[in-house]
Amino acid sequence: MKLLDNIGREFSGYNILESGKRLLDRKPLQCSLYVTDRCNLDCAYCTEYDNSRPHPSLDDLQKWIRKIRELGTMRIALVGGEPLVHPNIVELVRYCRELGFATSLTTNGFLLTRKLVAQLEDAGLQVMQISVDRMTPSPITKKSFKTILPKLDYFRHSKISLHITGVICADTLPESRAVLETGLSRGIPTEVRLVHADPLHRFRVDRGPREELERFIDSMIERKRHGEKIHTSEAILNYQRSLLRGEHVDWTCVAGYKLFFVSAQGKFWICSMVHTDKHIMDVTLDDLYANYRKKSCQEGCGVYCAVSASLLVGKPVQVLGKEIVARAKRIPSVFRRSLTSDADKATRSAITNPDGTHEVNGGTKSGPSADDGVTLRKNV
Ligand SMILES: C[S@@+](CC[C@H](N)C(=O)[O-])C[C@H]1O[C@@H](n2cnc3c(N)ncnc32)[C@H](O)[C@@H]1O
Ligand code: SF4
Ligand code: SF4
Repeated sequence: MKLLDNIGREFSGYNILESGKRLLDRKPLQCSLYVTDRCNLDCAYCTEYDNSRPHPSLDDLQKWIRKIRELGTMRIALVGGEPLVHPNIVELVRYCRELGFATSLTTNGFLLTRKLVAQLEDAGLQVMQISVDRMTPSPITKKSFKTILPKLDYFRHSKISLHITGVICADTLPESRAVLETGLSRGIPTEVRLVHADPLHRFRVDRGPREELERFIDSMIERKRHGEKIHTSEAILNYQRSLLRGEHVDWTCVAGYKLFFVSAQGKFWICSMVHTDKHIMDVTLDDLYANYRKKSCQEGCGVYCAVSASLLVGKPVQVLGKEIVARAKRIPSVFRRSLTSDADKATRSAITNPDGTHEVNGGTKSGPSADDGVTLRKNV
């Protein structure tokens, strides 16, 4: 039974039935809600924070969340700015879960405490993405394992599925491989991805040498094919390689339709880079469907969550098929783990990683990816 459970977990990330439902109808799959514009950090590549703006109120956020649900949206990703600086973040998670959303939160992790992780878990948070760019902080980004490693222990017995995502640019590239290894060696699904441009198509930081970047992406494709927990699809890795090579990719952007963003002022945004002045309260399903079209900003687009959903909608069998094959490669190791006696497990869990930390919850299960499904409480 335990073995079947573990095998099921290797596939649970891609909840095919649930995602499939949204592949067949006209309703949205996911909304990313900016719960605040404020942030406690200042990453040099980022254009998504603004400390001159106040937090939106809990009342307003709940009103927008209800509307997002009424549109039929299945998943909500709480983003920012830094979501953990919002004073009502735990209530917001609870509210999303009460409405039946599959709920995730993306954070720089600096404000995480053991108590807050427990509160978020109790509120029903299913997925947490912690952003980690380097092993040690730099003037470009302070998001490093130096801060995050000691906090991984908070997730050891947590039901929250943790995954790690890093940004690759010239500053981080020398450490990107170590970031990937550090996450994967603890059994945490981990992804590092190319820095993207700002809404005016400018890169805020040096992107790094193209050939080296390409070699690194190639190595991730190889590892993904061998079943390692690289937390993105092969389709997105191939897409990033095409970006580096300047190759044209044929796809139709579903941002503003299958996934959309809501700003911390309640405005409907097509994606993090393309904004509108329309208020979310005025948006209809027809408005969403009108965004199902090729867009002039597609060439070079770095909004990977949108590209990922678009590739899935465009070629569901191909994209899901490869993911299923990659995850199936993990099954032999699931067998080995299940055959390990409890005594062995106890010994293993007492063994710490070289830097003194233990494996966390991801060590025995594969967490859902940002574009994956998690079980929903209510049907929409
Ligand atoms: C805008 S942040 C908000 C949540 C939180 N403050 C954090 O850093 O995780 C969401 C994600 O976008 C990533 N990001 C921000 N600017 C980016 C850029 N120019 N290129 C690639 N990723 C970027 C961050 O690293 C983070 O993983
Ligand atoms: S922590 Fe997140 S929101 Fe804040 S500056 Fe960095 S990427 Fe942007
Ligand atoms: S192509 Fe990219 S930038 Fe343009 S709307 Fe789609 S996701 Fe946004």
